Amino acid sequence: MQEPKICPYPGLRPFTEEESIFFKGRDEHIQQIIAQLEEKKFVMLTGASGDGKSSIVYAGVMPNARAGFFKAKFNNWVIADFRPERSPLKSLSASLAKQLQLDPVHVENELRCGFSALVDLYKSSKYYLDTDSDAYKNAEIKEQKSLKHQLSRICNPRQKQNKFLTSYLGFVIRD
Ligand SMILES: Nc1ncnc2c1ncn2[C@@H]1O[C@H](COP(=O)(O)OP(=O)(O)OP(=O)(O)O)[C@@H](O)[C@H]1O
Ligand SMILES: [Mg+2]
Repeated sequence: MQEPKICPYPGLRPFTEEESIFFKGRDEHIQQIIAQLEEKKFVMLTGASGDGKSSIVYAGVMPNARAGFFKAKFNNWVIADFRPERSPLKSLSASLAKQLQLDPVHVENELRCGFSALVDLYKSSKYYLDTDSDAYKNAEIKEQKSLKHQLSRICNPRQKQNKFLTSYLGFVIRD
């Protein structure tokens, strides 16, 4: 039987996450972006239209994040992407609310007070596990084990020993 032919170029549109296997020639830039994210937790990509910004984010940076290749204490990333459209804050809030499984109106109200609210929103989501909390410390060993089991699936192999992992929050702003 003949193998189906696959064109490795998506045409005029950007590469998607699923097409990362075909995404070539940007390794150095991907490593630069990751290094900056690790250090500063924030990267802004700018460039002329068609330079490949979207492609490098979706097919380069995001697959690395999902694979746990960032040097970070916790390595399960929640990725909320959005287009600013007519109401950028609303769009951002809707995307974050969906990813963090929170109420979009609440997220928007909190973000209106300032972007530092992002940390509290993250902490109020199911992705945050406070291992210093009394609730966690007083939990039955069985319960802790089950949490550990659940979370170990999102563990970065480099930090496997006995660490309880929650998620870091990353977000990509789509232009
Ligand atoms: N590494 C690559 N190899 C081959 N083609 C690429 C590569 N990166 C991007 N392209 C192609 O270049 C074109 C522009 O890419 P992309 O849409 O990612 O750029 P952009 O900077 O986000 O553009 P815009 O500013 O218009 O949104 C697309 O056709 C995309 O498929
Ligand atoms: Mg783009």
